[in-house]
Amino acid sequence: MQLTDSIGRNINYLRLSVTDRCNMRCFYCMPAAGIAKKTHDAMLSYEELLLIAETAVSLGIEKIRITGGEPLVRSGIIDFLAKLATIPGLRHVALTTNGLLLEDLAVGLYKSGVQRLNISLDSLSPHTFSDITRGGDLNKVLAGLDAAERAGFPPPKINVVVMRGVNDSEILNFATMTLSHGNSIRFIEYMPVVKEDGWQRFCISGEEILQRIAASYRLEPLDKGAFAGPSRDFRIPGARGSIGIITAVSGHFCSDCNRIRVTSAGQAKGCLFSDERTDLVPYLRPPDREQLAEVLRKIVATKPEHHSITTEGYAHQNFTMSQIGG
Ligand code: GTP
Ligand code: 5AD
Ligand code: SF4
Repeated sequence: MQLTDSIGRNINYLRLSVTDRCNMRCFYCMPAAGIAKKTHDAMLSYEELLLIAETAVSLGIEKIRITGGEPLVRSGIIDFLAKLATIPGLRHVALTTNGLLLEDLAVGLYKSGVQRLNISLDSLSPHTFSDITRGGDLNKVLAGLDAAERAGFPPPKINVVVMRGVNDSEILNFATMTLSHGNSIRFIEYMPVVKEDGWQRFCISGEEILQRIAASYRLEPLDKGAFAGPSRDFRIPGARGSIGIITAVSGHFCSDCNRIRVTSAGQAKGCLFSDERTDLVPYLRPPDREQLAEVLRKIVATKPEHHSITTEGYAHQNFTMSQIGG
């Protein structure tokens, strides 16, 4: 079965957020304080998340990426993932994490059936890392990265949100890292989500990032694999790893978009930046598979053609990335 939207895009990828809580507070993702904690009831149970996943897979979803907040802070996550990974027809289970808890959980995660990890890592300097994440410990994330590979994972993809004057001086260091490490380093355009004071100064385009790397290294474009996300990938000839650019603001990967999202509170979204949300809770409490399937089909059918954010901002309602999972 295939899920196709109104402009012919094949939707085979669900981003499922299991919590909006996080053990870091990256300034581009969450305000420093003032986020009300959701009550237990407002968060979907693992049974409800599994019902959504099973229904989505029965409709044609083949890849699920688990996101947060930080997914590894939710208790019982490994057992949940082990159940998720056994859904017939689900070909890829991946997870995006900040890596803080990975040192302890990598083996369990690997055994649960998760196939790939993406890790957020915006700086290789402990000081800058701590500033961006408001107190995060770089060494813990690096230990987590090591533990992931020791546990058997392929080298995780590394997400670097690039911000002018904050970590853009590290672009070349990260690019050089791919010569000796098999990771894919993906440079992500900063998205004005929290809109902290003076956010415009942070914006730096994917094209500029590429030009800065190209001043020192030749870059060969790589083909997009099946289930590829928004990243445009390159390799420095002879390098073990690769370099990607996620032009979340300037680039127009919307025409290839293959995904829908569900938040940990059960709000389904056809597009990261759309204000349209559909509450799935009425179809989960009590569970009604048929209606749930109908509603998911409708979300795909009404998926917006493209987003309209720009470096000048956007007119959508404010949200924090941790509520949606990126
Ligand atoms: P894979 O392709 O499966 O590796 O995943 P991914 O790169 O889409 O996932 P990841 O969770 O690592 O997200 C990387 C960055 O891409 C984050 O900053 C996301 O917010 C951003 N991103 C993912 N999907 C979309 C999208 O549909 N639109 C926009 N604008 N950004 C996205
Ligand atoms: N702009 C760009 N990327 C963001 N992420 C979170 N907030 C933003 C933002 N404002 C990224 C995180 C993580 C991924 C899920 O989303 O760095 O790697
Ligand atoms: Fe937490 Fe990820 Fe948001 Fe940083 S980007 S605060 S690690 S959810």
